[in-house]
Amino acid sequence: MSVNTGSNPANSDPADSDRVIIFDTTLRDGEQSPGASMNLDEKLRIAALLEEMGVDVIEAGFPIASNGDFEAVNEIAKRAKNSTICGLARSAKGDIERAAEALKPAVRPRIHTFIATSPLHMKFKLQMEPDEVYQQVVDSVSYARSFTDDVDWSPEDGTRTEHDFLCRCVEAAIKAGATCINLPDTVGYAVPEEFGNLVRMLIERVPNSDKAVFSTHCHNDLGLAVANSLAGVDAGARQVECTINGLGERAGNAALEEIVMALRTRQDVMPYTTNVKTEMITKASRLVSTITGFTVQPNKAIVGANAFAHESGIHQDGMLKNASTYEIMTPESVGLSESKLVMGKLSGRAAFKEKLGELGYEMGDNAFQDAFRRFKALADKKREIFDEDIVALVDDEIVRGNDRIRFVSLQVVCGSEGPQTADLTLEIDGEARQMKATGDGPVDAVFNAIKELTGYSARLQLYQVHAVTGGTDAQAEVTVRLEEGGKTVNGQGADTDTLVASARAYMNGLNKLLVKREKTAPSALSA
Ligand code: KIV
Ligand code: ZN
Repeated sequence: MSVNTGSNPANSDPADSDRVIIFDTTLRDGEQSPGASMNLDEKLRIAALLEEMGVDVIEAGFPIASNGDFEAVNEIAKRAKNSTICGLARSAKGDIERAAEALKPAVRPRIHTFIATSPLHMKFKLQMEPDEVYQQVVDSVSYARSFTDDVDWSPEDGTRTEHDFLCRCVEAAIKAGATCINLPDTVGYAVPEEFGNLVRMLIERVPNSDKAVFSTHCHNDLGLAVANSLAGVDAGARQVECTINGLGERAGNAALEEIVMALRTRQDVMPYTTNVKTEMITKASRLVSTITGFTVQPNKAIVGANAFAHESGIHQDGMLKNASTYEIMTPESVGLSESKLVMGKLSGRAAFKEKLGELGYEMGDNAFQDAFRRFKALADKKREIFDEDIVALVDDEIVRGNDRIRFVSLQVVCGSEGPQTADLTLEIDGEARQMKATGDGPVDAVFNAIKELTGYSARLQLYQVHAVTGGTDAQAEVTVRLEEGGKTVNGQGADTDTLVASARAYMNGLNKLLVKREKTAPSALSA
């Protein structure tokens, strides 16, 4: 079978027919998961990590969708050096122009344009005849090509599209200049054999198929997204669209970590390579989960907390004799190392800086001094400090950024004899303010105190606590999701005291809402 590497700039070596291009869409399709919205800083952090881990193409957003999306694509385009940066566009001229504008600073810009081609979507959603859709395929791809040499075209709901029409559209898209043909299983309906056959059929029947890279974009409604993507690769696709932790619309997309590790682990039956540094997978999973508030289920493949845990006695015995009895890949290969006791009370600035470097953090001087102060305070409270503690602490420091509302101190009275009371001091725009409030339980009392102090009330959609390490002195990492006027944000906070972590998380969410508010109507905080 012939395999297409096309003239796609994302594939640095077009002669390498076994190399699979990893196209990450965490920041676009992933962000479409309800509640997973991310702000600019968060998107920049994720994009930087994706690039560092060797992701070939980063779909950074849908520029016409909002100013926020435009800005994110534009800023990521300015910063990326190696990865191709992609912006999504419907087939309309305005969409393509907006994507091209956002991508202007990119070293390697890609426009991804799409239109639905299934009878169902054409009739009910687009209310267009097939010939009109066909014409839009030609027009949109040609127009996108007038801005960049790298154009990805997708027939939305491709797996439910009539084959002859799909072949006609794909041929026309390639003729109009598409360098990549992406086949979306938009509703996660396909099964692996069927999906593989569809890719094979297109490569075999479309006369100019050798001029483009074929790609998969599989949704997970039946839990088959990864299996379908791999079947696509086996049939000749050389790009996989996927997301960290499988984030995405409805049941999500194919999980990047599963695709990459399946290819790495089963070289015997899938002799394909990717450019991804798999040792960074755990870090990426953690970052996306912390930012979005979407926790990873413990038994999730590759990145779940139990993915490398061995509970039964028989398994533990086998592991002690030879790890490969029950482990098909090593924890180290996904960046999971034994929790290491790193430092303690006596560690100084130099050791702390070195540790940060080892964990992949670079901080400005002020942020470093703040993080070091918090590390010392933590070391006073917690006997053993692990890598995970440092990561939680530094992440917490990074998310604070230029917050207008800052935590100063908290005293809580709680227990079976209410009322639970929180005595909270915050710094708001540089001024210390204090408030006592009661509530239905200590968390409610803390949140009520914050609301009273800031005069700011948002709807709490999610409150989640996670222990960073084992032990009763572990740091708690709290995530909240707040909603105001249809806008949702996630807030994070970490501390050895769960209530302090909760206050920090709630304030982090409020600070993000404030930034959104400021963009539309700058205001002072009432109290
Ligand atoms: O699922 C889908 O069809 C998409 C397209 C925009 C590629 O996300
Ligand atoms: Zn999708």
